[in-house]
Amino acid sequence: MTIHNALPVGSKVDVYEVTGVLGVGGFGITYKAYDTQLDREVAIKEYLPPSIAVRRVDGHSVVPSSEVNQKSYEFGLQRFLDEARVLAKFHAPNIVGVNRFLEQNGTAYLIMDYEDGELFFNYLRRQGALSERQFLDIFVPVLEGLKAIHLKSYLHRDIKPSNIYLSEGKYPKLIDFGAARFAWGEQSHTLTQMLTPGYAPFEQYQSHGRQGPWTDLYALGATMYLALTGKKPAEAPERVAALQDGHPDPLDSIEVSREGQYRPEILQVIDWMLEVRPIDRPQNAQQVLHRLTNTQAKLAVQVDEQKVIQGQVQRASRAAQRSVQQRRVTTTAGDIISRRRVPARREESQWLMKSTVALLAMAAMMLFTQYHSKASDPEAPSVYEAAGSAPSSQFTISGIK
Ligand SMILES: Nc1ncnc2c1ncn2[C@@H]1O[C@H](COP(=O)(O)OP(=O)(O)O)[C@@H](O)[C@H]1O
Ligand SMILES: [Mg+2]
Repeated sequence: MTIHNALPVGSKVDVYEVTGVLGVGGFGITYKAYDTQLDREVAIKEYLPPSIAVRRVDGHSVVPSSEVNQKSYEFGLQRFLDEARVLAKFHAPNIVGVNRFLEQNGTAYLIMDYEDGELFFNYLRRQGALSERQFLDIFVPVLEGLKAIHLKSYLHRDIKPSNIYLSEGKYPKLIDFGAARFAWGEQSHTLTQMLTPGYAPFEQYQSHGRQGPWTDLYALGATMYLALTGKKPAEAPERVAALQDGHPDPLDSIEVSREGQYRPEILQVIDWMLEVRPIDRPQNAQQVLHRLTNTQAKLAVQVDEQKVIQGQVQRASRAAQRSVQQRRVTTTAGDIISRRRVPARREESQWLMKSTVALLAMAAMMLFTQYHSKASDPEAPSVYEAAGSAPSSQFTISGIK
């Protein structure tokens, strides 16, 4: 497929040979390429904002689409380079690795590690609502990545399922820092208003909105909401308008709508992150991490307890089986069995059967009390489900990019 404006396959950018297009976005084009020096694949992001720039007929150089756009183009290019410099300094496991950046063809390029894997968005579409375990396995590392960015006074500003990449082994990494801006005091100029409706909080729609870590946390809360419900939250301006008019919030509380399907600690955190007013949200990623890692620890303890119960049940049922088998061997060996001993053996084996049933009942009771709420909903993901097994029926993702 030929993408309008994209470098043709086989083009060279420094030592990198373009092998295909990975994506086209508001700030530029992402290519898959081959590093001929280090003999490995890379992903390259080229600065080419389609609203103000075009590729010339030579097929390589990028220029502003008109004189009017010249200033904005140059301003954006400098920001792209500033951001590339900062990104190249991040070496966090949950942020895509940027190796270098360079200027060529009248534009700039960001060279990243190529990750084999898939977008979280595609994963969700395929697999459906996440189980609690999957939720924590994905979002705890993403929060670690966000925390690392915020600690350097950076904001991502476009967190959404299609900007989280699951590399091999389903390890999540944040990608696409196209909308990132340094510092959250004074707002820097934006080339175009870059936001994704449904994920962007209200302050991103305002020209002087106070943005901070809480801005990314709202977008991450919206991503979590989608991951458990299949629905993108109502857009922030719609929510604000409804609340101002005294109408109910068009975004229903997930703690209410998914009650009994996920533990309240998880649902409450999502509602908290999705508060309309920045001041009502968690103020930093650590606050959310603290809640979720506590839940993760509880989950681990419960899984361990469940394993112990399963072990006991298995041992008891093996013992019962062995005992029955031993009796059969003795009988077929033709041993003399007195008539009086038969009822005794029956009693013994009945006792073993009863203990097994009692143990099974106990285990079932314990599981029921721990997870009683899950049992009522056949669609609810279970904490015991292995990755990929959560039910996906009725889980369709509505209209997002
Ligand atoms: N480091 C990477 N390794 C592999 N694929 C990547 C990498 N970075 C981005 N991609 C792919 O390129 C696509 C576009 O990337 P992204 O940075 O989100 O740009 P945009 O959304 O602006 O097009 C993504 O959907 C993803 O599939
Ligand atoms: Mg993207």
